[in-house]
Amino acid sequence: MKVLVTGGLGFIGSHTVVELQNEGFEVVIIDNLSNSSEDVLNGITAITGKTPLFEKLDLREKTAVQDFFKKHNDVTGVIHFAASKAVGESVEQPLLYYENNISSLIYLLQELQQKPEASFIFSSSCTVYGQAEKMPITEDAPVQLAMSPYGNTKQIGEEIITDTAKVTNISAILLRYFNPVGAHESVQIGELPLGVPQNLVPFITQTGVGLRQELSVFGNDYPTPDGTAVRDYIHVVDLAKAHVIALQRLLNKKNLAKVETFNLGTGKGSSVLEVIHSFEKVSGKKLPYKMMPRREGDITEAYANTDKANNVLGWKAELSLDKAMASAWEWEQKVRNK
Ligand code: UD1
Repeated sequence: MKVLVTGGLGFIGSHTVVELQNEGFEVVIIDNLSNSSEDVLNGITAITGKTPLFEKLDLREKTAVQDFFKKHNDVTGVIHFAASKAVGESVEQPLLYYENNISSLIYLLQELQQKPEASFIFSSSCTVYGQAEKMPITEDAPVQLAMSPYGNTKQIGEEIITDTAKVTNISAILLRYFNPVGAHESVQIGELPLGVPQNLVPFITQTGVGLRQELSVFGNDYPTPDGTAVRDYIHVVDLAKAHVIALQRLLNKKNLAKVETFNLGTGKGSSVLEVIHSFEKVSGKKLPYKMMPRREGDITEAYANTDKANNVLGWKAELSLDKAMASAWEWEQKVRNK
C-alpha cells in the first residue's frame, strides 16, 4: 500500500516515514526542501534499508499537485506534515503562512475527493487550545482564538478538513501534538532547525555544543511549582508511531466518525527547568542559562489528557524525557562534528 507523506523530509515527517516503512508501507514523499534537505533520504535508507520515493514539489502549485496524483494514482492514504511552523515568522508574514499552509491543504483534498475512498492524517497542534482552563487537556476542551497566524492555520485546517469530510469520501484524523522533541535512536535522523532555534530543546542542545552562549529561560514568575512554564514534551519516535496507528485505523475502517481528533502527548508536564536538568543529567554537562522576562504569546502550562489516544486510538507514549534529551543531544553532537 502506497502512502503519501507530505513534508516527509522534515523532523516529524522523516521519523514517520521510518515507522511506515518498518510496517511495510510503500512511501512516496513530497517535500519542497524549504526547511529540510535531500540528505534525510540517506538517513531513512540507513535505518530501514529502503529508500522512499521522493518528489520535490511545492504544494502551492496546484497543477503540480494534480500531476503528482495522475502519476501516483494509487495513493489514497496521505499524512500531511508539509507546512510552515515558526510562530514569530507567521506574525511577520501572515500571508505567507495562510498561502502555504492553507492552499496546500486545499489542493490535496481536491485531489483526494475524486477518489472512491481516501484517508487523511493531519498535523495539528495543542496550540488550538490556547491556555486551556483545565489540566490535563482533553480533546473536548474549547478551541480558543488563535494567538498567531500559524496557530490560526491549524484551526482553519481542522475546519476545512471537517467540512470536506462531511460531504466526500475522505475520512480524517486530526492529531494535536504537544511538544515533539528528540531524535531517532540510530542518530541517522533528527531535528535540523534553520538559523537560531526558537524551540527550547534545539536551543539547549546547540548551547551544549557551544553554538549558542547561553539559554534564555523565558519567565520564572509563572504560577507553576518552580516558576517556569510547563509543557508536555513527547519523543518524536512515539509521535511517529501514532501516525502509523492512525492511518491503519482509517484503512481498516476502525474509525468511529468521519473525522476524529486525538491529543498526542505523554500526559506529563515538565517545566523549562526540569528540561534543563534532564539535559544536564544525560549529557553530564552544565548548561549555562539566565532568567529572562516571559516570551510574548507564551502560555503557562499545557499537558495532555491521553485517555482518548490510549483507549480509543490504542497508542501510548513510551519513551521518557531523559531518553528524548539523550537522543537530541547525541544527534546535535553528530550534526556538529560532521
Ligand atoms: C511553540 C509554539 C507552538 C508550536 C510549537 C511548534 C509558541 C507560543 N508556541 O510551542 O504553537 O506548535 O512551538 O514547534 O511559540 N523557552 C525558553 N527559552 C527558549 C525557548 C523556549 O525558555 O530559548 C520556553 C518557552 O517559553 C516555553 C517552553 O520553553 O515555555 C517551550 O517552548 P517551545 O519549544 O518554543 O514550544 P512552545 O512555545 O510550547
